[in-house]
Amino acid sequence: MPGMEAITIRSAAPSDLDALAALEGACFPPEQAASREALADRLRHYPNHFWLLFLDGRLVAFIDGFVTDRPDLTDDMYARAQDHNEQGAWQMLFGVNTHPDYRGRGYAGLLIRRAIADAKAQNRKGLALTCLSHMRAYYTRFGFRDEGISPASTHGGAVWHQMRLAFPENNAPDPI
Ligand SMILES: CC(C)(COP(=O)(O)OP(=O)(O)OC[C@H]1O[C@@H](n2cnc3c(N)ncnc32)[C@H](O)[C@@H]1OP(=O)(O)O)[C@@H](O)C(=O)NCCC(=O)NCCS
Repeated sequence: MPGMEAITIRSAAPSDLDALAALEGACFPPEQAASREALADRLRHYPNHFWLLFLDGRLVAFIDGFVTDRPDLTDDMYARAQDHNEQGAWQMLFGVNTHPDYRGRGYAGLLIRRAIADAKAQNRKGLALTCLSHMRAYYTRFGFRDEGISPASTHGGAVWHQMRLAFPENNAPDPI
């Protein structure tokens, strides 16, 4: 139907590498963008923790991040895909990208909500991400809480805030 574009969301496969690398490069300055090699490594270790949004078959947005028992997102994680732990407690979100021509239509939001739903279905404790100061209000919409400036994240020479969405039912204090 004219004017109707079909949206598909799915996890990743190795064959998505070219499209992912091109989109990452279109979304971040080189010092902050994940390299093609880093993305390839992530696809080898956790293709099932990528969320890709296609519009009429064209990749226009994606998010990704590994799972770990470490609660805090630290810079070393970006390049250490092998540290992914499928049984881990926390779903990290490393990158949120929407092609510049397709922003403001809620696509990143759809992917974030899907990642939250999947992490909940997988019984994780929650999700963590780091973001620049001006993006805090955006992630708050989805239930993330600002934990302040992250001492462990300085990549790209920027100041990053850590934000976390913890599922209360999976974060009960240990019984005494
Ligand atoms: C951030 C990004 C992923 C949002 O993608 P999107 O598909 O347009 O997101 P949505 O449509 O779900 O939400 C858009 C909202 O994001 C927020 N937002 C996006 N860019 C923003 C900015 N520079 N400053 C403040 N808020 C911003 C706004 O709240 C915006 O809402 P609005 O459209 O009502 O103004 C996209 O702009 C992008 O790829 N940017 C470059 C990479 C980046 O900065 N990623 C985030 C790293 S923390």
